[in-house]
Amino acid sequence: MPMNIIDGKLTAEEIKQQLKSDTERFIAETGKTPHLAAVLVGDNPASHAYVGNKVKSCGQVGFRSTLIKKEADISEEELLALIHQLNQDPDIDGFIVQLPLPKHINEVKVTLAIDPDKDVDGFHPVNFGKMAQGLPCFLPATPYGITLLLERYGIETAGRHVVVVGRSNIVGTPMSILMSRKSRTGDATVTLTHSRTRNLKDLLLLADIVVAAIGIPHFVTADMIKEGAVVIDVGINRVEDENARSGSRLVGDVDYDNVAPKCSYITPVPGGVGPMTVVGLMMNTFQAARQRLSLK
Ligand code: GUN
Repeated sequence: MPMNIIDGKLTAEEIKQQLKSDTERFIAETGKTPHLAAVLVGDNPASHAYVGNKVKSCGQVGFRSTLIKKEADISEEELLALIHQLNQDPDIDGFIVQLPLPKHINEVKVTLAIDPDKDVDGFHPVNFGKMAQGLPCFLPATPYGITLLLERYGIETAGRHVVVVGRSNIVGTPMSILMSRKSRTGDATVTLTHSRTRNLKDLLLLADIVVAAIGIPHFVTADMIKEGAVVIDVGINRVEDENARSGSRLVGDVDYDNVAPKCSYITPVPGGVGPMTVVGLMMNTFQAARQRLSLK
């Protein structure tokens, strides 16, 4: 089977175009403009870049956005007060608090403070629990974006063996649940692997679909991949590169150059899953705006 590159950038642009026209209709019909707020604490460069992309995407699809920047030394109490304010603000449909947060702030407390109806990241346990039971909810943005890619590319998941590498709360764990659910991009048999997994290579060699989300550059190598597998690379790792003008470049969790020739489909980094994460967030924000008006 020939190798196909999954173009997340193009797919994201197409979905955002559709969302833009849906948003125009929504505004015409309701007089309301979907409004996302993003809270950014400290000066983590990656977080600044991610939040910048989110704000930019809001503009592209016709949403309002508000960026709230706070110094790294903000107290937990102050941040929780800000979240309560955003929960109450009738003008805000949904908001996110960009992670990671400075060490003195408890991320669990922060996540629990967000009103689940405004939790467009889908990180609150209420949304996570609904997801696990297959109920309507805000899906975490990256797993949501990946399911949209699988759908768009017509990649069959039912009855296939998916191996997820990495068990984070925001990617690996929700992805493993979603793909095992009875649903259009689910019905798969899922193995969730992590740092304590034994014989990872043997498990990966059984995979029809691999989702790599472990945050280690080039962790998944060609000898671990079955001929014809689908490989979804969630990693965004910055590595030194003396040939790059900036002195560094982005690589995924997959050794792309050597793995790609064995795959039926593969996502590149950059331009694969990354742009789709933002699409997931935009879709959730639109849904939040609809639900605030008691629309389905
Ligand atoms: N940090 C890494 N990914 C995410 C995300 O999807 N949302 C937020 N809020 N923080 C993140």
